[in-house]
Amino acid sequence: MVVGIHSGRRGRTSESALRYLLKHTGEEYKVFSLTDLPLETCDACLGCLTTHRCVKNDGINEIVDELCEASALVFAAPEYWDGVHAKARAFWERVCFMGRHNSAFPLQHLSGILIGIAGHGDASAAIRDLSAFFKDARIHVIDTVDVQGSYACFKCGFASVCEVAGVWYIFPRDTEICPETVPSLVSQDPHLCEKERREDIFIELEATDRKLKAKLRE
Ligand SMILES: Cc1cc2nc3c(=O)[nH]c(=O)nc-3n(C[C@H](O)[C@H](O)[C@H](O)COP(=O)(O)O)c2cc1C
Repeated sequence: MVVGIHSGRRGRTSESALRYLLKHTGEEYKVFSLTDLPLETCDACLGCLTTHRCVKNDGINEIVDELCEASALVFAAPEYWDGVHAKARAFWERVCFMGRHNSAFPLQHLSGILIGIAGHGDASAAIRDLSAFFKDARIHVIDTVDVQGSYACFKCGFASVCEVAGVWYIFPRDTEICPETVPSLVSQDPHLCEKERREDIFIELEATDRKLKAKLRE
């Protein structure tokens, strides 16, 4: 069984990319949306020292139970402020802490895939943060996928008068905003010339899926 987890908005880029990949695996899978959980951060209370379970009852232990039974984990998270989204971080700081006492590492059997989503099109900071957590949990990363998500500034209605709109981080200031200029899963890197745009993201997700299938067949 493959477990998919995302920390983006419901039905948006992270969840869509995650579900696209999972559907193609042909494996049984379960999806968890961290967005729906009131996840808190780690208090370092050491309540997990011998149980390897968190004392906070907010849904994290149930996900870890599923992960212990799974063979692979696909994790998709947005980049916020040049790092991984806080909800994903809250999840991993607790999962890594509760798992490592006395070298237990209950998730070390998992193969992992990381999907980073960033409005400006470079999710390397989110992928860097997630890679560190996977390394700490001893989850073997098979592949990473970097996806361009959305920028609220394309739709807020104030971009033309706002100096700090995300639109102007990727497009020249006088660009007219129209449907063709809005980044999305089906329109990656619209701010770049055709030659510089990444490969069709669905093809990339399918290639990653093939690597996962090969790993699961080993
Ligand atoms: C508070 C906030 C901070 C963000 N910071 C960044 C950032 O540092 N770099 C970036 O490329 N995109 C940033 N974004 C854009 C998100 O990564 C983008 O909207 C992504 O598509 C969100 O994932 P989702 O569509 O799955 O919800 C930020 C968005 C918000 C709301």
